[in-house]
Amino acid sequence: MNSTSTTQAPPLPTLPKLLAGQKALVTGANSGIGKAVALAFAKAGADVAINYVAGDDAAQEVVEAAKAEGVKAAAYKADVADEGQVEDMFKQAIAAFGTLDILVSNAGLQRDAAIESMTLDQWHKVLSVNLTGQFLCARAAIREFKRRGVRPEISRAAGKIICMSSVHQTIPWAGHVNYASSKGGIMQLMESLAQECAPDRIRINSIAPGAIRTPINTTAWDTPEAYDKLMQLVPYGRIGEPEDIGHVAVWLASDHTDYIVGSTIFVDGGMTLYPGFSTNG
Ligand code: BGC
Repeated sequence: MNSTSTTQAPPLPTLPKLLAGQKALVTGANSGIGKAVALAFAKAGADVAINYVAGDDAAQEVVEAAKAEGVKAAAYKADVADEGQVEDMFKQAIAAFGTLDILVSNAGLQRDAAIESMTLDQWHKVLSVNLTGQFLCARAAIREFKRRGVRPEISRAAGKIICMSSVHQTIPWAGHVNYASSKGGIMQLMESLAQECAPDRIRINSIAPGAIRTPINTTAWDTPEAYDKLMQLVPYGRIGEPEDIGHVAVWLASDHTDYIVGSTIFVDGGMTLYPGFSTNG
């Protein structure tokens, strides 16, 4: 089987309009997984607010690509770790779109270092964007979902939140303790919030991606050697593409999954099956 870094999975099936009439805010949406989620939502009929923190042109390109699908789209520059900026962004997006039905808390980053050289800044940066950012955005979204309540003609739920986690909410990751801790934290944030908000018909779940072809992990896939080494961790034998996550996010935000509450959906080609054990142990 050809397993070089250029191997592309065949295209996914066309998305049905599962989110017609809904309004979504996606954080970190001008590249990688966030961009793919925003564009999949647009294809599924949702209006999309594109959050980003740097890269105005890239954000504008996502806005234009979303609009080309026939939905409303606008870009909002805000640091998800900053309370004031998050509050302003939600105020503006709600004013522009009328309300919000879906939040995808996707913004995240890595600042990798061995423990003895990891700085406090590297620790704080990752925890504040990856975890505090999800808290701030979830709080703002939940306030709006509760204010508005269920509109049965739009969705069975008053609102949906998808937390972008990682296989590293479960799999320990040497050299990345800040990142793994942030993702472990997201698991408890998501489950505790899901428990708290389910009575208000707010569905909160996570997607835990494995290795996806995005800028965050370029060195893990951009040479044939790196790609082949990565494949030792992926039983399905290919890297994930951002669209793999986008399509799952559409489904998880739609009423097709109305009874999924507080779950983590692993989208990882089997990475969490611990493939090292297939020939060992
Ligand atoms: C990380 C990637 C990594 C993947 C699998 C993700 O959460 O951001 O850098 O390739 O997990 O280890």
